Amino acid sequence: MNLTLHVWRQNGAEQGRFETYRAEGMSEHMSFLELLDVVNERLIAAGQDPIAFDHDCREGICGMCGFMINGEPHGPLPATTVCQLHMRNYRDGDELWLEPWRAKGFPVLRDLAVNRGAFDRIIAAGGFTTARTGTALDAHAVLVPKDSAELAMDAAECIACGACVAACPNASAMLFTAAKVAHLGYLPQGQPERYQRVLAMVEQHDAEGFGHCTNHGACQTACPKEIKVDYIARLNRDLRVARFRDRGALD
Ligand code: SF4
Ligand code: FES
Repeated sequence: MNLTLHVWRQNGAEQGRFETYRAEGMSEHMSFLELLDVVNERLIAAGQDPIAFDHDCREGICGMCGFMINGEPHGPLPATTVCQLHMRNYRDGDELWLEPWRAKGFPVLRDLAVNRGAFDRIIAAGGFTTARTGTALDAHAVLVPKDSAELAMDAAECIACGACVAACPNASAMLFTAAKVAHLGYLPQGQPERYQRVLAMVEQHDAEGFGHCTNHGACQTACPKEIKVDYIARLNRDLRVARFRDRGALD
């Protein structure tokens, strides 16, 4: 199959622009990243700069890949990262526009690759428990209700790809933050720091320049791991309690 790619090219903070490339003789069995690999081999052979894009596992589990394809984070398939998107989902002759995530909190490093260090800093602000580590406890030592375990596991599926931010008209990272707050907040082990965690992580979220959630729900639609906005509702409840506690109103 033959495709036309309009790819955003940008070196760091410099002004970016779209460049057009012909991707000819591609197989429908290729993943989207394999297609870019072939385009890059041809660019290198022609003495041109390859297109920069992030990737690692190429199995939909690490969260490294991700860019906009025709305005959609990770492309058109629901619950699918761009590394798991195959060219059979496109037609011969298609014209595709590839852009990086666009958000103040994700500065462009190069082309389709952005700096997602803001997510690491949000996790570092509170996405952990300070329990002593050491030998693993007996699995039965702390009983976890089944519903809580299921909800915590669903939240823990977030791979920190950033598609939720890219989809949001406010560039909010609330879905990501809510998932990281919830996967500990549903477990007994996460209770001692539950409220201080939500305060610290939301404060860091705001400090990174991400916008507020205004309930558009675009994040949930774009999320390749189908994280639900219900977790944002839970974060908001916890945040409310945390702020009351902070003021001593509940003590
Ligand atoms: S909530 Fe979904 S879209 Fe957002 S970072 Fe996590 S996996 Fe990616
Ligand atoms: S490269 Fe790991 S999720 Fe796509």
